[in-house]
Amino acid sequence: MRRKLVAGNWKMHGSLAENDALLSGVLAGMGSLRAGVAVCVPFPFLAQVQAKLTGSAIAWGAQNLSQHAKGAYTGEVSATMLKDFGCAYVIVGHSERRALYGESDAVVAEKFAAALAAGLIPILCVGETLEEREGGVTEAVVGRQLDAVVAKSGVAALAKAVVAYEPVWAIGTGKTASPEQAQAVHAFIRGKVRALDAAVAEGLIIQYGGSMKPGNAAELLGQPDIDGGLIGGAALNAEEFLAICRAG
Ligand code: PGA
Repeated sequence: MRRKLVAGNWKMHGSLAENDALLSGVLAGMGSLRAGVAVCVPFPFLAQVQAKLTGSAIAWGAQNLSQHAKGAYTGEVSATMLKDFGCAYVIVGHSERRALYGESDAVVAEKFAAALAAGLIPILCVGETLEEREGGVTEAVVGRQLDAVVAKSGVAALAKAVVAYEPVWAIGTGKTASPEQAQAVHAFIRGKVRALDAAVAEGLIIQYGGSMKPGNAAELLGQPDIDGGLIGGAALNAEEFLAICRAG
């Protein structure tokens, strides 16, 4: 049985004071949860979450990293720097990075490899746009995004990673994939991995992301191949985030 993982993706939100209140609220309400819990925060807040969450049941991570180990890359942050701040996770290939910052499948694959090399657990985001879904190429797109990573790092690398299926049309839009729509893509992803390595496929955590909320979390998380959530908007509210964690 896979343990579910609920991770907050704060995106470019927060301040030291707001984060303090948010994290205190989440810590106070954690109780004993079945699901694992993590928050992925902007780089400047890593010291704060490390100080506040060390010794707690909440893991933390970043939302991006450089594919390079070190060097003349002004403004970039390496995997080992994230490791220094106690990160367990790093989001790789979020659709906003792919669409707004031109991250290709090849770059995403390099970032994934860089994260693994430093001992971080990459949360690899995959997902189709509305146009792609309507054009009937959802599986082709998600398959291609996954293939790029497997070609570079090998299928065994997925044993040390998380995959997040995030349909682009559902992110921050209030439109959620139906449990059936999400389950179908999750089953496709697991099936694709199973064809290469059955044990890796069975252990692989595949999160759903895209307008997951307290009201739809239980139904989504109840699907056989949905193993958690990557939560944007609702992760900025302690009660909403906790309600999703409890549904897991
Ligand atoms: P959302 O974002 O929950 O606000 O839709 C999810 C994500 O982009 O990771």
